[in-house]
This record gives sequence, structure tokens and C-alpha cells, in this order.
Amino acid sequence: MKLLVLNGPNLNMLGIREPDIYGRETYRSLEKKIKTHCKRRKIGVKIFQSNCEGSLVSKIQKAYHKYDGIVLNPGAYTHTSVALLDALKAVGIPAVEVHISDVDAREEFRKISFVRAACLKTISGHGTDGYLEAIDTLDAICRDRKGSL
Ligand code: DQA
Repeated sequence: MKLLVLNGPNLNMLGIREPDIYGRETYRSLEKKIKTHCKRRKIGVKIFQSNCEGSLVSKIQKAYHKYDGIVLNPGAYTHTSVALLDALKAVGIPAVEVHISDVDAREEFRKISFVRAACLKTISGHGTDGYLEAIDTLDAICRDRKGSL
């Protein structure tokens, strides 16, 4: 089981950016938390962050036939990117959308998610633990799929 965790713009600023909304945990410590969680569950994981939409699209395309699942926090691209939606649809890899903050309880524009239509589930407002929940969701889905083959 191999998972790709993708983070969009400004998530590298975790710990610095708006701590009242996103908390004080740094991006480095989020990476560590994800890796520790995956190691315990014997899940292979690759984590990637970019501030550029095209780089995220390319990562999703390259994931084709390489990864069993994608955990995606597209940051602000959540609310704007048809390209990310199309990339997820193109590869057809099971994906879970994650947001650290509760996007539905914030500004109106944050309630719109383009990628949601290509995701099995959205986890929003659970802080960085949401990434671990998304990993567990994909792990369970992949196990079920393998079991039914
Ligand atoms: C975010 C929510 C987005 O609206 C925002 O643009 C982000 C982070 C979150 O994790 O809560 O950059 O995706």
C-alpha cells in the first residue's frame, strides 16, 4: 500500500501562518507525524508540497499506477482549481480531501470545493489529525478492495 500526500500553497507556512486558524504545528512536524503514522501501519508514503498548481497536477498525473491512494489538501486551489479536479479524475486513484480548518464555517468562498467531486471523502476542521484520518480511510478502502479480488 503506497500513499501520496499532497499539500498546496502556503501549507509550508504552517506554524507561522494564522496560528489561530491553523495552529502552531509546523509543516516539518506535520510531515513527521504522517510518516510515523504510516510506518506504524506499514503504509508507504510520499509527501509533497507545492505553491504551484501545475506542479500539483503533474504529481497527480505521475501517481498513475504508482500509488494506491492520494490524500490532498489543495489549500486555496480547493476553491479555484478545475485542473486539480480533472487530474484526479484522469488518474482515477482513490482520493480524500483534507482541510485543517473547518472550511464550511469560514468565508462563503471556502465552502466551494472543485476537487470534492473527485474525492471519496472530505475531512475538514480536525486540525492536522485530519491527515491521519484520511490515511486510515484510504487504508481501509484499499484493504477492502484487495479482499474482494
Ligand atoms: C485549507 C483551507 C483553505 O481555504 C486555505 O486556502 C488553505 C488551507 C485548510 O487546510 O484548512 O490554504 O485548505
